[in-house]
Amino acid sequence: KIAERIETLLARMSLEEKVGQLAQISGADFVPGPKAEEIIRKRGAGSVLWLNDTKKFNELQKIAVEESPSGIPLLFALDVIHGYRTIFPVPLAMAASWDPDVPEKSQTVAAREARAAGLHWTFGPMLDICRDTRWGRIVEGAGEDPYLGSAMAAAQVRGFQGDDISDPERVLACAKHFAGYGYSDAGRDYDPSYLSETQLRNTVLPPFKAAVEAGVATFMSAYMDLNDVPASGNRWLLRQVLRKEWAFEGFVVSDAFAVANMVIQGHAKDRREAALRGLKAGLNMDMSSYTYTENAADLVAKGDLTVAEIEELVRPILALKVKMGLFEHPYVEEGLLEKVVARPEHRQVSRWAAQRSMVLLKNEGGLLPLKKDIKKVAVIGPLADSMEATEGSWMVFGHKPAAVTVLAGIRAKLPGAEVTYAPGPEIRRDIPSWFESAMAGETRKPAQTPEESDAAFKTAVETARAADQVVMVLGETDLMAGEAASRASLDLPGRQEELLKAVAELGTPVALVLLNGRPLSVNWAAENIPAILEAWEPGTEGGNAVADILFGDTNPGGKLPVGFPRKGSHAPLYYARNLTHSPEGSPMYNPRYWDGLPTPLYPFGYGLSYTTFAYSNLKVSAPKTKVGETVTVSVEVSNNGGSSWSTVWGPYYG
Ligand code: NOJ
Repeated sequence: KIAERIETLLARMSLEEKVGQLAQISGADFVPGPKAEEIIRKRGAGSVLWLNDTKKFNELQKIAVEESPSGIPLLFALDVIHGYRTIFPVPLAMAASWDPDVPEKSQTVAAREARAAGLHWTFGPMLDICRDTRWGRIVEGAGEDPYLGSAMAAAQVRGFQGDDISDPERVLACAKHFAGYGYSDAGRDYDPSYLSETQLRNTVLPPFKAAVEAGVATFMSAYMDLNDVPASGNRWLLRQVLRKEWAFEGFVVSDAFAVANMVIQGHAKDRREAALRGLKAGLNMDMSSYTYTENAADLVAKGDLTVAEIEELVRPILALKVKMGLFEHPYVEEGLLEKVVARPEHRQVSRWAAQRSMVLLKNEGGLLPLKKDIKKVAVIGPLADSMEATEGSWMVFGHKPAAVTVLAGIRAKLPGAEVTYAPGPEIRRDIPSWFESAMAGETRKPAQTPEESDAAFKTAVETARAADQVVMVLGETDLMAGEAASRASLDLPGRQEELLKAVAELGTPVALVLLNGRPLSVNWAAENIPAILEAWEPGTEGGNAVADILFGDTNPGGKLPVGFPRKGSHAPLYYARNLTHSPEGSPMYNPRYWDGLPTPLYPFGYGLSYTTFAYSNLKVSAPKTKVGETVTVSVEVSNNGGSSWSTVWGPYYG
């Protein structure tokens, strides 16, 4: 029946309109070219992106439905990566929970809010396995491991889409970036990836396959060259692996401008050839480069492409529009979002997800949990009261940060205590992000002068000196991880370590809370600070969740989804590597570097708790196995910490 409906639609569409469905057009002004309204009125469009305005959605939809020749509704798409209004921990943090329920419940809420605002489609989950922690986009994925990555992939797809894509509280998901983007040379964003088929099949592709198995509606092709062929023109990936081997039935959108980029990448001599390469490779939708709409008619006229080939690419786009009920319900109720956002469980899920994501890295002498009858706490550091750093990277367009910061969370937890605060010297990127300058149209605040920085440093030390307990909140700002946010060093940026040393020297007990979207090489802190909590970028309720853990209302249980190298130059560093000559522990062990330990500072899977556990009775069901057979490994785990800590999981039990 759906197939019939699609054929009826196709039969009444001109070639121009068919190609229109293959275009995702920009709703933002930073892309030059004709206005969205004009394009839609003339030929319709598959989708609109970079617009986040409920009223405008309805206006554009009305043009598509009532004024465009075939009246096909638009899909409104945006990056809703870890929350729309209620923000959840960044995906790397959610992976640290090792609990698929965390991303599934979080993305269910994100989908409900996004859909209430009028969005139909999110560009997530990001499924790039990454073993090079210098790569800024590691924050958006599940870390280094394909098994954990696959579990998180499927969970996010279920969260966004539910069981039925006609559910009006869900959005279409998009598995991105297909494939190999997390392996760009030396972690430099957008640079080429070279991966053997073995690595691809064993490590990079499994989360994408898991997403297909979970029913993901769409895919996004990556920016970079994979083994010298741009992913967006990569027939092997898009036709052989995705459609033939995995039987994927949805559609594939390119990353932004990636079709046109094939000219830069030397894969096509001009935009016309780039369009041809994308279309021939099976890439259904051109995100924002207008290369398809500009060239497809000519490609057909000159016999380079047939109408049948175009129709093959249009069908899955129309099919999803039909299946999600867009023809019956093209509009969104204005004002619905505010009602939906007010549902109390949204913030509860956010707090629970944040609690579950945090990883206790060190707790010497049982410094944590802190006592609530403490009199004077100093909260110190440039991120201690930063809503942006608490919510983290990848906010939806126009989002206004509204997080509970660590300072606010501690104040709320200790109404009777004196909680003082000093940020210390500011931290900033050496080179600004495109996202803070060009796109937001903002000019950067001038940097602190050395005198201002010294004064802020001094105030911070004095504030710490007057306290009984110090909580330092250090790490990276939201724009230090994410797209176009790779870095060579993994050290704490700016003067943060210097400040940490100066405060530690006072002799007042210090607990360090890290807010960051990637592993950091906190070598000095790991040696010298008694308690370290990895809080990541924890979202709207982040500060409350930190306080819940610091003051013992919740037991931390997260485990690292990626190892922390001791230096940026040690990346890529990962646990699942093949053993070779002179492995660690062997009598003939030769260190891999002579200028420091090559092992991670904190390995994959690491994470402490307020209680202790004993593992016993490890059993493997068979000593040998054949390919395709199953082996069962079992172990008994007991909580021998003498308390019931492991059962305390905070306010949300869903
Ligand atoms: C570029 C990013 O690589 C991708 O992840 C994102 O979804 C698109 N831009 C759309 O904003």
